[in-house]
Formats: sequence, structure tokens, C-alpha cells
Amino acid sequence: MKHTMRICENKEIAADIYRLSLEGNEKITYQPGQFINIRINEAGLFLRRPFSISYHQGSQLIILYKLEGKGTDWLSKQAVNQSLDILGPLGHGFKPIQNGQAVLIGGGIGIAPLLGLIEELHRQNTTVHLYAGYQSQPMIYESHRLESADQLTLETMDGSTANRGSILSWLPDIDVNTAIYSCGPRGFLRALMDRFPDHHNLYVSLEERMGCGVGLCYGCTCHGREADESRLICTDGPVFNAKEINYD
Ligand SMILES: Cc1cc2nc3c(=O)[nH]c(=O)nc-3n(C[C@H](O)[C@H](O)[C@H](O)COP(=O)(O)OP(=O)(O)OC[C@H]3O[C@@H](n4cnc5c(N)ncnc54)[C@H](O)[C@@H]3O)c2cc1C
Ligand code: FES
Repeated sequence: MKHTMRICENKEIAADIYRLSLEGNEKITYQPGQFINIRINEAGLFLRRPFSISYHQGSQLIILYKLEGKGTDWLSKQAVNQSLDILGPLGHGFKPIQNGQAVLIGGGIGIAPLLGLIEELHRQNTTVHLYAGYQSQPMIYESHRLESADQLTLETMDGSTANRGSILSWLPDIDVNTAIYSCGPRGFLRALMDRFPDHHNLYVSLEERMGCGVGLCYGCTCHGREADESRLICTDGPVFNAKEINYD
């Protein structure tokens, strides 16, 4: 589970968004939605930082990350051929449906784990409609991968490209049996769960703050549906069926 991986690429591909390609000695298999925990070798930063595996290219794992604070700033300064200390793949990812129709809904950097899921759903003979929302046009990344969806609806909050406003306002009614897969900020996922309360197949990836990432520190607890029930996002998730959790 612990790997030393070489950086093959680490470059800015959109405003404050980086693509990191990693290669190890052995091929790593993963489910879309699983994550890796990267050690940050900077004084004072004790906790590893979690990132979804976005997709793979040959034997390289691709991570797409947004500059947020000290950890991602350190990461953005690591050069090609340097090594990173990685734990993973961790957690439970998305379960792709077969021979069906899926709606993928992502906001900002939350679109990253959905890119590999598009490929996996296509392998399962499922058609994909992707709804992708961004703050503004310069933050759109990996356009060719977005376009690999069978249908694509793009939106920017500031209207700098395509539709204007929240992607949630562009969603049509979705059949209760259609699988919905989503990732994005807390408020975005909360609004999505409120919009589709009766869906049995609404899967959300919760990208909350984490401590250990492996079920030891209880720093990532979220409420289950029953009053005394709880779930660990790092080991029970980060992907949950919305019916399993209380995300208030
Ligand atoms: C399972 C999982 C998968 C993730 N996948 C990705 C990914 O693919 N790409 C990506 O860019 N980010 C992803 N994240 C978020 C990423 O881990 C954080 O952005 C990163 O740890 C920030 O580290 P930092 O030291 O740069 O920022 P910090 O200095 O730790 O924090 C800077 C700011 O960001 C906020 N912040 C930090 N971590 C999170 C978080 N997890 N959720 C919301 N706000 C946070 C802090 O509250 C603070 O305001 C994921 C998180 C989880 C739990
Ligand atoms: S992050 Fe430590 S238990 Fe989940």
C-alpha cells in the first residue's frame, strides 16, 4: 500500500490547477473515486494530503490538483524525476453500472475523479451525460476528456463560457433509477442530495479534510442515516450512496 513514485510530469494546466503524473515500480490498480495520500516533506506539515486518482495513462497515475494552501503549494514545486511517498489506493470508489445510463455531475476540482469514471463506464457499455461546472473559463481543465462523454453540459458561474450560473440549475429531472455520480464541494453535494432525495443510485464522493486516511484517527467521521450511526470517509468512503449518510 505504501509506494515510492517518480514524478513524470507536474505542470499547471489551467488557472491554479495542476496535472501530476506518477510512476512506480509496479502497476497500481484502482477504482475511479479511490484516492492516494501524499506525504508533504515540509517542516510543520505532518499530515499527508489526499487526492483522487483521476485516471491513468499506461502505467502512470494522473492526479489533478488545485492550489489551496501550503501542502499543494509544496507539491506544485516538486520537479520531474523527484520521488513522492504515497499511501494508496485508499478507500472505496464509484461502482460503475453496466449497460445503462449514467449522469455525472461535478463542480470545479471535483470533476477530477469523474474523468476516469467516464472511461470505466464506457468499458461497461454505459452511456454518460456529464454536467460540469466551473467558476470561470480559465479554470476549465482536460477539455478533451470532458468531451469524451456521450453528452456534455458545461457551465461557468461567471458566464465566461457556455451557460451561466450553477450547474445544479441546468440539471433536468432525472429518472429515479438512473445512476448519478457526483463530486464537488460540500454545499454543492448537499444541494444535489436535496434535489434528488428519492434516488436509490445517487453516489457522492466526499472530499472532506482528513487526518491519517486509513481509519485510525477518526478525524473524518460523518453521520450515517440512523441517529447513533457514523461512517469514516477515508475507509467507508469517500464514495457513498447518498442514502447511507446524513450530510447536514
Ligand atoms: C478523498 C479526497 C480526495 C481529494 N481529491 C482531490 C483532488 O483530486 N484534487 C484536489 O485538488 N483536491 C483534492 N482533495 C482536497 C485536497 O486534499 C486538499 O485541497 C488539500 O489537502 C489541501 O492541502 P493544502 O495543504 O494545500 O491546504 P491547507 O493549508 O490544508 O488548507 C487550505 C485551505 O483549503 C481548505 N481545505 C483543505 N483540505 C480540504 C478538503 N479536503 N476539503 C475542503 N477544503 C479543504 C482548508 O480549510 C483551507 O481553507 C481531496 C480530498 C479528499 C478527502
Ligand atoms: S482520516 Fe483518520 S480515520 Fe479517516
